[in-house]
Amino acid sequence: LIKACIFDLDGVIVDTAHYHFLAWKRLADELGIAFTPEDNERLKGVSRMASMDILLEVGGVTLSDHDKERLANKKNTWFVDYVERMVPEEIFPGVKQLIEKLKEKGIKIGLASSSKNAKTVLQRLYVEPLFDVVVDGTMVKNSKPDPEIFLLAASRLGIAPADCVVFEDAEAGVEAALAAGMKCVGIGSRDQLGKADRVIRTTSDFQAADLATLAH
Ligand code: BG6
Ligand code: MG
Repeated sequence: LIKACIFDLDGVIVDTAHYHFLAWKRLADELGIAFTPEDNERLKGVSRMASMDILLEVGGVTLSDHDKERLANKKNTWFVDYVERMVPEEIFPGVKQLIEKLKEKGIKIGLASSSKNAKTVLQRLYVEPLFDVVVDGTMVKNSKPDPEIFLLAASRLGIAPADCVVFEDAEAGVEAALAAGMKCVGIGSRDQLGKADRVIRTTSDFQAADLATLAH
């Protein structure tokens, strides 16, 4: 029986995935790296420094740790600029209502994001109080596809991993959820997220009643 829903943030609750893409793209342009939305799929869900490494790999560029750190910080200041200009209306339609419905059914709600900016994004949307537990990139050693962040969320919720379902838009996130022994709903394309138990276009395509179809 599903007792908890754990949501990714970027690309699931709000379209900050697009802001991450724009900021990486700007850095790629500066470095003379051709960087496409398809390449960007590999960066979704993974930590800032792991994303930096993937970007450099795409461009066939090698840099010192010091330079990588400096450029990743630069990307982050651009991302934070977008976040500062965010308005609460940017939350995906229907997400708040879905979470409220789930809570009425007694389902615990967690947030598990690889981002170190997750708290700030939640505050910009005024949705922090919706979540029983928030875990983010500042609290884990290993980023998705490692299951650490989802296992931490489940343990803080006091729910067994097998009774949790994860909502994810990233391939690395789907992998992490399954490695944690959880059910997973992919948000996006079946091509990208086919390993998930179910794939839907947007988060609000899921209804609280659908939980029953995911239980084992
Ligand atoms: C994830 C995003 O949520 O957070 C990734 O999907 C991002 O694209 C990662 O790289 C780390 O984010 P931040 O804000 O700590 O650089
Ligand atoms: Mg995401």
